[in-house]
Amino acid sequence: MPLCISIERTLAERAIKELRRRGILDREHLITRAGNSVIVPVRVNAPGELELSFTRLPVFECSPPLREIVKAPLPSLDVVGNVVILRENVLKLRRAEDIIAAIKQVYPRVKAVWVKEETNDVFRIPLLKLLWGEEVREITVKEYGIEMRVKLGEVYFNPRLAEEHRSVAQLTKNGEVVVDVFSGIGGFTLHIASMRRCLVVANDLNPVAYELLVENIKLNRRKLKSTIIPLNSDAVELPHILRQGVADRLIADFPMKSTEYYEVYEKLLKPRGILHLYTVSTCSPEYARAKLAGVFENWHIVQCKPVLEYAPRTEIYRCDLVKPDNV
Ligand SMILES: C[S@@+](CC[C@H](N)C(=O)[O-])C[C@H]1O[C@@H](n2cnc3c(N)ncnc32)[C@H](O)[C@@H]1O
Repeated sequence: MPLCISIERTLAERAIKELRRRGILDREHLITRAGNSVIVPVRVNAPGELELSFTRLPVFECSPPLREIVKAPLPSLDVVGNVVILRENVLKLRRAEDIIAAIKQVYPRVKAVWVKEETNDVFRIPLLKLLWGEEVREITVKEYGIEMRVKLGEVYFNPRLAEEHRSVAQLTKNGEVVVDVFSGIGGFTLHIASMRRCLVVANDLNPVAYELLVENIKLNRRKLKSTIIPLNSDAVELPHILRQGVADRLIADFPMKSTEYYEVYEKLLKPRGILHLYTVSTCSPEYARAKLAGVFENWHIVQCKPVLEYAPRTEIYRCDLVKPDNV
């Protein structure tokens, strides 16, 4: 049976703060009103008396309502720094107040809850609507000890890519020239540079992403072993900026459009160079493979593996390809 104290309304806030600080506020049940009193559920062993710093109160058995969040778990969300990002469709299933209450209880330090409304096609930037809290847009996140500054709503950023950044970095070897064709704020680049001695060219067309890429290189400079060349160009210009056949490895993380840049990859990569290409496909890795086979004739498609869910029954795959000798 739950246990409660009853306290006069004007003293309730002070008592609740103290209970919370002492870790004896019962968060599974709701605080309710009874006339001029407030009934506060508490986590103590047995009925009796509870001593607060400013008063003593009887503890009695009670039946406060369960918090809804206990019955309904948190929706799928991303927590980045002290900010929570929800997908728009979550609001079709549950009331905003319930979601906010649940988030605040599980993540008490959260300062803002944003709803991701749509993604602008060119820079892959989400349109964010503030559901609750302060307009916190500038945050610092950490992936495997690498710090990254992010401006939410101005650059592409997905906290679910941390493992993928690491996996690709683990595939690289010392001495390679790597071109991160669509680098964003530098996820792949910084992971590679923190693990290997390479030359990494990181490029993004979005000027804000480029600005943050440069800032993130500076922020992590003590941890980086590679030389990084940041660029702010259209990918189609890269073969005019860099020497043709310069790259041992390319990363092409622009899933909706990556196949449109075939000529760029073909020009920049050495024979037998490796391309990590991200692409959107339905159903299975075989569909992703078949889609690429039509574009990358004679290239060896080593594997396609799912990385992220993009939409129901649609995933983002990473396909690893090897450029043939004779292209
Ligand atoms: C999916 S995001 C890349 C994410 C990044 N690799 C990461 O791990 O966070 C695709 C990026 O491509 C950039 N982009 C779009 N069109 C481009 C182009 N023509 N040339 C270079 N970059 C482009 C966008 O600004 C965006 O940052």
